[in-house]
Amino acid sequence: MNFSITTKSPETLSSYVIVGMFENQKLTEAANIINKVSKGTLLQNLKSRKFSGKAGKALELTNLPGTKAKTVLVVGLGSNKCKVEFIRAIETIFSKIREAEETAITLFVPELKANGVSRAWMARQIASTATSLSYKYEQRKTLLDGKSLSGLPAKVALAIEGTDSSSDKTHLAEGGAIGRGMNLAKDLGNLPANICTPRFLAEIMTKLGKQNKFSVKCLSEADMKKLGMGSLLSVSQGSKEPAQLIHASYSGGKKKDAPIVLVGKGITFDTGGISIKSSSGMDEMKYDMGGAASVIGTLSAISEMKLPINVVGLVAAAENMPSGTATRPGDVVTSMSGKTIEILNTDAEGRLVLCDALTYAEKLNPAAAIDVATLTGACVVSLGKVASGLFSNNDDLAEEISRAGTTSWDRVWRMPIWEDYTKLLSSNFADLANIGGRAAGSITAACFLAQFATKYPWAHLDIAGTAWVSGKEKGSTGRPVPLLCEFLMNRV
Ligand code: BES
Ligand code: MN
Ligand code: ZN
Repeated sequence: MNFSITTKSPETLSSYVIVGMFENQKLTEAANIINKVSKGTLLQNLKSRKFSGKAGKALELTNLPGTKAKTVLVVGLGSNKCKVEFIRAIETIFSKIREAEETAITLFVPELKANGVSRAWMARQIASTATSLSYKYEQRKTLLDGKSLSGLPAKVALAIEGTDSSSDKTHLAEGGAIGRGMNLAKDLGNLPANICTPRFLAEIMTKLGKQNKFSVKCLSEADMKKLGMGSLLSVSQGSKEPAQLIHASYSGGKKKDAPIVLVGKGITFDTGGISIKSSSGMDEMKYDMGGAASVIGTLSAISEMKLPINVVGLVAAAENMPSGTATRPGDVVTSMSGKTIEILNTDAEGRLVLCDALTYAEKLNPAAAIDVATLTGACVVSLGKVASGLFSNNDDLAEEISRAGTTSWDRVWRMPIWEDYTKLLSSNFADLANIGGRAAGSITAACFLAQFATKYPWAHLDIAGTAWVSGKEKGSTGRPVPLLCEFLMNRV
């Protein structure tokens, strides 16, 4: 998908043209021009077909007199008061276009006055949404080849009203990079576990690093054993697939700048281990590496943008299988931190791989570390598919992440990690247990991680609900790549 800026007048274009109307029947500047050259036909049509201008509505008009375009799409922009309407309008446009199979479109966007909407934000949001909505899974051999996805259209030209258009192109490019990062994350999440193994994730990160010029090293099980990562290794021990700790360093910033560390849960398949899950819907546990996918997608986006910041991506990749060599409930392991863990439930494996990655992160002296994980079913129960769970030991960091989520519309909701909850993790046989009982499942999971992230500002995102859609539209969402990109862009 190729984005460009146009300064041409809408009636002169032969591509598919998109203009807007607000709820109060007010036309945008471009719509007004088309209405004038068509001698009022545009408005007549909209009126006779009772077009409301509500966000989420759109109407195709063909062969309007005075215009070169065969089709003009009028999109409802709503009240011009909240940005959700703008987001809905863009989604409407690109779903419509996908149906229409247009290959070249020109989009005329009014300057909006809605809360939190800037020109830069609009350009970015359009490009990221368009790219993300063009996604189609076809187990592409093209994964990472940078070629355009099969979705349509290939060419999107954009005109935003107003005079300050100098940086529109940059913002479109940023949005495109974010959209492509989301699509890479979706591909990884959608790939089956027999292909997307820990070693496959390591390979993808390595390729991406070569392509976008950042360094990648992969720690083998032997390396991890040397570091004392007994917790992480207890998860892969039942699987034929060896675990990988993937360490990517993107150095866009100054040498001495402390990095932001992103840590992704990369369980390429979660059977539950000996505490095996029930079989219904177990196929979906191939997306238990959604956190890892979002870290890889985010690195792809920021390295493509050449963001001047230092970011380390750590992916703790393993497969959680039951077998004769698998960890048993009741086993006690020693983590890299030295803390011992009683594994009461082998299905609470995400925290077991993450805790060692969080200890490993200490030696990177992070400015902040954010782990991203499809960690608990309990988080899906509490926040559903709308917000990711946010947990943090630092109020400023939590606030910063929250705001980035609202801006990018990849929202999060903070939950507490009070001492009262941490107590639920006590064990008679080790420093802590890996589960805290039925109550407050996503909180006790976060409290577990917090025990290992004591040396730096840390936040944890539970994306069990937001990374995946079930049902007919089953598939990976690419979240929270937009949130992570927004956060990092604001840190620059
Ligand atoms: N990967 C799952 C969490 C999950 C559940 C993600 C549903 C996406 C959708 C995680 O490893 C897990 O199994 N968690 C257990 C924890 C429990 C044993 C304390 C859970 O949520 O049931
Ligand atoms: Mn599990
Ligand atoms: Zn899991």
